[in-house]
Amino acid sequence: MVKLTVEDLDLGGKRVFVRADLNVPLAEGRVGDDTRLQAIVPTLQHCLKAGAAVVLASHLGRPKGKPDPNYSLAPVARRLEEVLGQAVPLASDCVGEAVEARARQLEPGQILLLENLRFHPEEEANDAAFAQALARLADCYVNDAFGAAHRAHASIEAITRYLSPAAAGLLMQRELEALGRILERPERPLVAILGGAKVSDKLALVENLLERVEALVIGGGMAFTFLAALGHGVGRSLVEPERIELARGVLVKAGQRGVRVVLPVDMVVAESPESGEGRVVAVREIPVHLMGLDIGPLTLARFGEAVRGARTVVWNGPMGVFERPPFAAGTLGLARALAASAAFSVVGGGDTAAAVHQAGVAEKIGYISTAGGAFLEFLEGRALPGVQALTDRP
Ligand code: 3PG
Repeated sequence: MVKLTVEDLDLGGKRVFVRADLNVPLAEGRVGDDTRLQAIVPTLQHCLKAGAAVVLASHLGRPKGKPDPNYSLAPVARRLEEVLGQAVPLASDCVGEAVEARARQLEPGQILLLENLRFHPEEEANDAAFAQALARLADCYVNDAFGAAHRAHASIEAITRYLSPAAAGLLMQRELEALGRILERPERPLVAILGGAKVSDKLALVENLLERVEALVIGGGMAFTFLAALGHGVGRSLVEPERIELARGVLVKAGQRGVRVVLPVDMVVAESPESGEGRVVAVREIPVHLMGLDIGPLTLARFGEAVRGARTVVWNGPMGVFERPPFAAGTLGLARALAASAAFSVVGGGDTAAAVHQAGVAEKIGYISTAGGAFLEFLEGRALPGVQALTDRP
């Protein structure tokens, strides 16, 4: 790590501001998937054991810069209490005199969770005065919100100008190390598997990965634009016509660089994602009135073979509409293939991580990132403001 980490800080008797990404799914007023919450426990415990008090902060959803009870962190506070086995009181706001007074009263070993940072428009505006108000709540800063590290927001970027040292939390450190193994020193062959709906979301990623991988495996909705670029009819499948030329360019560039591009050879097609069942056809034979909703078995075997030959694999984006059982086999099968391989595997993105859990193979994956957008931006080779802002190790 070129940046300070929480383990470098002298935390005894200090109040530490921990920025986390507790942007978790809520269902009926309760936390649904608590992965992001569990992921910051090591950092919290490290701080508390070292004799610090923790002022914990996060955003939740996109409440458009004003208080909205639907985006309150109250359910997160309740779940954190269960997970940590200690009180996690929720402040009524994240800045202001009342919160400052509560933060001052914190004893070592205690936590105060601030209310949603995005209830204030100044958070997303990276506003200096708002960052200063947050900084007044603590003596030092730890960022454990890798999932939000691509956002130059006040609690992530501007705050580090007023609160130092600014160190990486243990989750941030693990994420950077695991993802760094893909970009900086992968064991080769390195294979990238991309899926998900849209090519447009992934073009920058494809461009950067082409410079680095031995093979690029493309499935999911985005494969249809590549298939269209090769001249296949794709029926009513998801295609981005304005990206077909770019997809063709990617295929040409891959050829020039000696990168193997592995595309689907068969598909599960149906009338719509709501259809009760699908049928398998070769990609050359997708009927004009049907759409591809999952990769077919031959494709899964091809993708599995690409994974078996790899020493490092990075995967983002499902192979089909895996939330629907008739179209889940490709994504879940690929998760199992990844789990069975000897390669160091890194999986990122909410849907892809969910698929790995659904397939029951999460423990067999090298690293499952808690991030979505930040995972993609990191692999695109972009500097993340949340990482850049941290204090350099002397
Ligand atoms: C995420 O879930 O990717 C992060 O929490 C960032 O959320 P945002 O896209 O609303 O900034």
